[in-house]
Formats: sequence, structure tokens, C-alpha cells
Amino acid sequence: MKNLALSLLFAAAANGAAIQKKPRQLEGSSGAELPKLISSGGINFLPKQKAYKIEQIEPRNADAKRVKITYGPYKLRAANSTVKIGNAQSMDKGGTSYQYLVDDDFPRDITVLQSKSMVTDENFKREDTANGIYNHHNVFMDITKSPQPAYACEGRKAAGALPYAVFTAGATEVGDINYSSTSKDIKTGYHLSKNRALLNSIDTINYNNFDKTVYTVTEIEYLEGTPAGYIDTFQALIDPSICGGVNGAAIHPPKGVSKFNVNSTGIIAARDGYILNIRGHLHDGGINIQVKINDKEVCNSKAAYGGEGHVTKTPEGRVWETIRETSTCYDPIKVKKGDKIYMQANYDLDLHPSREMGGGHGAMAMGSAKRDLANVGTAMDGDAEQMALVVTYFAPI
Ligand SMILES: *[C@@H]1O[C@H](CO)[C@@H](O)[C@H](O)[C@H]1NC(C)=O
Ligand SMILES: *[C@@H]1O[C@H](CO)[C@@H](O)[C@H](O)[C@H]1NC(C)=O
Ligand SMILES: *[C@@H]1O[C@H](CO)[C@@H](O)[C@H](O)[C@H]1NC(C)=O
Repeated sequence: MKNLALSLLFAAAANGAAIQKKPRQLEGSSGAELPKLISSGGINFLPKQKAYKIEQIEPRNADAKRVKITYGPYKLRAANSTVKIGNAQSMDKGGTSYQYLVDDDFPRDITVLQSKSMVTDENFKREDTANGIYNHHNVFMDITKSPQPAYACEGRKAAGALPYAVFTAGATEVGDINYSSTSKDIKTGYHLSKNRALLNSIDTINYNNFDKTVYTVTEIEYLEGTPAGYIDTFQALIDPSICGGVNGAAIHPPKGVSKFNVNSTGIIAARDGYILNIRGHLHDGGINIQVKINDKEVCNSKAAYGGEGHVTKTPEGRVWETIRETSTCYDPIKVKKGDKIYMQANYDLDLHPSREMGGGHGAMAMGSAKRDLANVGTAMDGDAEQMALVVTYFAPI
């Protein structure tokens, strides 16, 4: 149960879900127990994990440091295996999930400018759909911090804010986390405190009929301590559900509907600050997310599909292209408390079919005992969820 609750928290963090809303796979568990569980020291049951290796690498900013931290090895079960492995509950029928606390070797008391994280193979090369590996999420969450929300609702409290800060994360699409902005005048970064406690979770689906071993590789660019003048910045998600719409992390369109959109209503800025950069988070099927502030478009984040590592062929010769990236809007925007925030996400499942869940669901639906790539990406009951989330980095002023 504890592990189930934590899985829900991590999936929420990775996907920006409102945690009191239950993804359908986890009906029966309650997100409301999470803060209780964690504040009562309940996470101590999780093992602490040392990095497999930590390397100093070339920073992008001359005055900063950059480290590359590798965790693993993690074994992933084969798609046709019925034996679950891992120490946590996967969000996908066929997935494998692990959860740990980072140990003392992870950096602390630093101001992070940028980070990124990915799942790799045994040679530390990025694992991708082309190799039958789908990274559902790979998250580091800082449970010592719970930033005041950046977004709220007109006349009401916002629902579903995550109780803790997402420090860094990776998923199947390539997307860096950027706590710095294009403006030299705005100094920002994420302060990872001396007494930070980071929970790390990975949830990965192996579509191959053989076990796989993977690692996670996370790069962090940082300044030591808390340099003067730097605003402590955090990731803030815009989820259409915070003011009473569709849960942006668990969208399942009605059968037969392939073109649709999801609009937010009634979201406002909860405080003054800078939105440093904006990126949409979509799953296979998403086309773009448009963001408006006070009725003016400030970002149109577009999904790109296929390309190296993000395309494969099924044994039948059908092409499966998965989402490669969604574009980032880099211009920092100053917002005032009460400014109107609007998002619209657009989908076309004919153009880009939903990902089929792992673990043989599709194979069964097709009346076959065999599970292979032929069943991936077809529109059936085992379709993975669609996303409508906007990832922003917010510097309060
Ligand atoms: C972070 O943002 C800066 C400023 O916009 C940009 O120059 C840089 O390419 C970004 N880096 C990453 C890793 O996204
Ligand atoms: C999974 O498929 C592989 C390759 O076809 C086969 O060798 C293996 O025995 C299968 N495992 C199970 C549990 O069916
Ligand atoms: C979302 O907004 C667009 C543009 O205003 C509109 O065309 C569309 O019907 C709306 N979609 C929904 C589901 O309300």
C-alpha cells in the first residue's frame, strides 16, 4: 500500500497530475494519504541508494559545475514475462518500477541552473522506442520543499497542486529542465538545500520478449550554495483540471474520437513572478499546446514525432513513431497575481495513434498469446493515457 501510494505520487509528479484524482490503473488507492505518509516519516521504508557513478563534466556556463550521476543497474522484465520485478508499482500493466531515496553522495546545498535525466542501456546510451524501451517517467522529487503554487483559480483555491517540488525528471521525449532564463537580468535557480531528501522513481516499459538492464543518467549544472541575487525557482505545472476541467494527466477520449481538444477554464497567476520558459507535455497523439496570458498567445509548443531513436517498425512492417520532443518557448514573461492563464491542447489520434500499454494487453485483445511490437500503437482498450500539461519554471518576485 505504501508503495502504491508512492507510485501514485511519482506518476503525479512526472505527469503533473492532480494527485487526488485517481488514474484508472490505481483505483482504490488514495493520493490524500501521501502527505501524511511522508510527514510521518513513512518513507523511511524506502532503501537509500548510492549512485553507480558520479562524473564531473564540462559545464555550459563558465562559472558553474556540471555533474553526471548514474543510477542502476535496473532489470526490466520481458514483455512476455508474468513475473513482476522492481520494488514499486508500475503505472503500466507491463512496466517495471523502482523507488529509492538518494544517499549522501548526491549533491546538496547547491543552486541548480539546468538538469536533464534519461534512461540508458548498459553502455550508457539513451534507450528509446527504437529499442523497445518506453520511459514512462524517471523523477527526482525533493520532499523537503513544497513551493507555494504559481497558478490558482478565479475566486477559488486551486485543486491538485503537488505537495512537493519536482527536482528533475525525464520521460520518453527529450526535454531539459531549465531553471535559468534567456535574460541576463533575471538570475534564477533551484536551491537544493543542505538537508534535501530526494525520492527517485523510475517506471519503464520493455516491449521486448527478453529482460533488459537499464541505468538512469542525470546531468545537473549548478552553482555552489545560494549565490546573492538568485531567485529560488521551481517547476510549476498548468493542468486544465486545477480549476475544474479534465485531469491533464489521465485523458481517455471516448471510443472512435480521434480529433479533439482540451481547454482550461478560470486559471490565474497566484502570485507575481516570471514564467521563465514554457513547454507542453503530451503523449503519442498530441499535436500542440497553445498557452495564452490575458488572451494573448505567449507559446505554441508543438510535438515532433519520429527521428533517431523514436521510430521503429513492427514485425508486420508498420511504422511506429513516438513523440520525440515538444518545443520550448524561452522568452521569460513577467506575470502579476490575477493574470489570466489559458491553455488549449490539440490531438489527432489518426495521425499519431496512442501508445499501447505494455505487458501483453494488446496481444490478448487481438486474440493472440504472443506479445510483440506488432501490437504496439494500435487503437484498442489498452491505449495509454493522453496528456494535457504545460510545464513552466516560475520565479516568484
Ligand atoms: C536553458 O535556457 C537558456 C536560456 O534560455 C538556454 O540558452 C539554454 O539553451 C537552455 N538550456 C537547456 C539545457 O535547456
Ligand atoms: C518470451 O519470448 C522469448 C522469445 O520468443 C522466449 O524465449 C521465452 O521463453 C518467452 N518467455 C515466456 C515466459 O514465455
Ligand atoms: C476549445 O476552444 C476552441 C477555441 O476556442 C474551441 O474551438 C473548442 O471547441 C474548445 N474545445 C472544447 C472541448 O471546449
